[in-house]
Amino acid sequence: MILVLGSTGKIGRELVPALLDKGARVRALTRDPARARLDPRAEVAACDLDAFDPALLDGVDRVFILTSGHGSDVLAQERAVVKAATGVERLVKLSTTGVHFGQTDPISSIHAAAEQAVREAGPDWTILRPGTFMDNRFAWLPAVRGDGVIRVPESDPASALVHVRDIAEVAATVLTTDGHAGKTYPITGGEALTTRRQVEILGEALGRRLTYVEEPEADARARMLGYGWPASAVDGFFELKRQSAGNEEIVFDTVRELLGRAPLTFAEWAGEHAATFA
Ligand SMILES: NC(=O)c1ccc[n+]([C@@H]2O[C@H](COP(=O)([O-])OP(=O)(O)OC[C@H]3O[C@@H](n4cnc5c(N)ncnc54)[C@H](OP(=O)(O)O)[C@@H]3O)[C@@H](O)[C@H]2O)c1
Repeated sequence: MILVLGSTGKIGRELVPALLDKGARVRALTRDPARARLDPRAEVAACDLDAFDPALLDGVDRVFILTSGHGSDVLAQERAVVKAATGVERLVKLSTTGVHFGQTDPISSIHAAAEQAVREAGPDWTILRPGTFMDNRFAWLPAVRGDGVIRVPESDPASALVHVRDIAEVAATVLTTDGHAGKTYPITGGEALTTRRQVEILGEALGRRLTYVEEPEADARARMLGYGWPASAVDGFFELKRQSAGNEEIVFDTVRELLGRAPLTFAEWAGEHAATFA
């Protein structure tokens, strides 16, 4: 039995069916089973990670560790899970490329500490370090549905964006096949695209012209605060951007090596989600 944290999130939504299709038994964790819309083949477990219930590990031999959330102490959440899971066979932790590059922004620092807890816990472990998700471009949804003008911070670097399905398929492989103990896998897409090119590709998928506008960081910051982001989250976001700028364009071969195929492209992502943006 595999316990999947974050089963209703971006990666989790792809990971749960991928594991079930491989014949694995899955216990999918969510705070709210009534709203979770999980694959009916999965066993659904209700839990808030702020108060992890160790009984959720009964009969579990593998754990996929993913946390998320503003306002939560995700490091404490991950440490509590790891502490309770010392008796399982295998831990697979979702981290970030920021750790690979030694970044010290708040998100990378938390992941680095959580990785350490996983390595020291006792069970076999594998760390997955994805780069920036293509799904982050859903932030452009209101602009695309509105005037079609996409405002991007002027410092945005070219990025080897990764499709969450590729991350989930790598995770499913690592959870269900051997040979990954003690390994750390950075995961990116197959090519670095400038933000201007990403906007063009999305426009091509939608069959309409989108306008790319670079905006000063101060304007981007004000806009995010206007959306209701806490100031600390906005600071963390820009600190991460500053530190990751030179690293975003680096491409890793992990998807091809583990899945035996090319990574999914941003054009494929845009095509899949065209109806959502329309
Ligand atoms: N976005 C990127 O570009 C990027 C890049 C590299 C690494 N990452 C890492 O990827 C991870 C996932 O980030 P994401 O933004 O994609 O999040 P996500 O997986 O979409 O986050 C939502 C998930 O977290 C669960 N969750 C949130 N708070 C919870 C709590 N208190 N107790 C139990 N479950 C809780 C939600 O479950 P319910 O709502 O169903 O309870 C949902 O399944 C993060 O560690 C992030 O640092 C992201």
